[in-house]
Amino acid sequence: MAMLMFAAQLSFAQQNVIAINVQDAKYTINKNIYGHFAEHLGHCIYDGFYVGDTSKTIPNTNGVRNDIIAALKKLKVGTLRWPGGCFADTYHWKDGIGPKNKRPAIVNKWWGGVTEDNSFGTHDFLNMCEQIEATPYLAGNIGSGTVQELIDWVQYVSSDNKNPMSDLRKSNGREKPWNVKFWGVGNEAWGCGGNMVPEYYVNEYRKYATFMTDWTNSDKIFRIASGSNSADYHWTETIMKNIPANMVEGVALHHYSVIDWGAKGPSTTFNEQQYFTIMQRALFMDSLVIKHSAIMDKYDPQKKVALVVDEWGGWYEVEPGTNPGFLYQQNTMRDAMIAGITLNIFHNHADRVRMANLAQAVNVLQAVILTNKEKMILTPTYHVMEMYNVHQNATMLPVTIKTNDYVFDNQKLPAVSVSASKDKDGVTHISLVNIDANKIQNITINVNGAKYNNVSGSILTSKKLQDHNSFDNPLTITPAAFNDVKLAANTLQVKLPPFSVVVLTLK
Ligand code: AHR
Repeated sequence: MAMLMFAAQLSFAQQNVIAINVQDAKYTINKNIYGHFAEHLGHCIYDGFYVGDTSKTIPNTNGVRNDIIAALKKLKVGTLRWPGGCFADTYHWKDGIGPKNKRPAIVNKWWGGVTEDNSFGTHDFLNMCEQIEATPYLAGNIGSGTVQELIDWVQYVSSDNKNPMSDLRKSNGREKPWNVKFWGVGNEAWGCGGNMVPEYYVNEYRKYATFMTDWTNSDKIFRIASGSNSADYHWTETIMKNIPANMVEGVALHHYSVIDWGAKGPSTTFNEQQYFTIMQRALFMDSLVIKHSAIMDKYDPQKKVALVVDEWGGWYEVEPGTNPGFLYQQNTMRDAMIAGITLNIFHNHADRVRMANLAQAVNVLQAVILTNKEKMILTPTYHVMEMYNVHQNATMLPVTIKTNDYVFDNQKLPAVSVSASKDKDGVTHISLVNIDANKIQNITINVNGAKYNNVSGSILTSKKLQDHNSFDNPLTITPAAFNDVKLAANTLQVKLPPFSVVVLTLK
């Protein structure tokens, strides 16, 4: 009897408890948090998105793979950032317009020193965004470009008036402008974008932003300042202090989950120590968002300027035998964990984080799609982003959580992560992640301020953390129906397997 009581107390002590406070809902989860990034890097564009319109073996539309278009449309991509990354500050957009056989070939000096023939340019990218139904986000070159070059680009893609740039666009076969709203004013200005100090960058920014007027007379242009490298809070402080509020709509932040830049570890054959460290790095995003937001709050208490996390994801060693400059890596359940917890963090900070771009969409870093000639596979990260897209444009429901620890080698991390939202039809979605590599988590969820009749769910998990989809076994990891949930009025009891992602739907 005494033993039984002890066991009962122990299991009570191990219960995770979540409260969802419907009455405190205030902010919308911006669809653009579900953005991606497509750089001229490795096989992201060439032999990734773009196979050329002469390809006989891979069905395509104007050279862009039809299977990728369909998969990304289904994913409901927010913004798609292009052409870099580091490549952006070497890119001269006029090289990529007009007849393809007349375009200059250059060397891609950042990524593998390969020849860039400029066959994929502005028209190819913006037409592709229309097909995917993604919102384009162009990264401007302020590192090696000029103010004139950037404002010409703005005019080329967005002006409907008669002027040299819209005439040039029309002569290249596009009558109506694409009306591009989102613009990056440089990329990683502290590093590959020019090795600037923030005090210098803010003046450069102000100069470029002044001339990037809105040529559309419709939606205003949205200018994004090159932001901090992870925890460089001085960078954010300098930007917010020195750029007038009417000159900036977004401030970027880049943070990768990497064990050590000198020893990144393998993408599939990692051990639990390496897994734990990557989880630590990914969870650090919460602290980054809180601290950068606090600085932004000082200068912009009304939260007009968005925090734009336009590069995030896991970064490992490249797959053996592949070009080190191509950043090609596999994608396992570990990546599904990164995606689940990071999106939960973005949701829970929907007041300030209004755009994010996973690095990168196809064949590079934490990709959602991998290709090999005519084959294409969807990664575990793809599946998490698809399961989660029910939160897009829904109202974020604030949560509080008391979670067990995931303990490894005397270190601990919160095991359970959660976010919730209510969509325009009144349906509530709750996304849960258990990062513990070994233990099941029992969770009680109390939804304060709502009652439901019905719950259903989907789950992404696998036998081993290292499991992944391959070209021979593309369906090893796919979402399945989730039944380990019980609903009584406004309380749920959920049992999450180790390293799993679950999305619940409550009606
Ligand atoms: O995503 C790969 C690279 O990482 C990008 O080009 C750069 O911005 C960052 O350092």
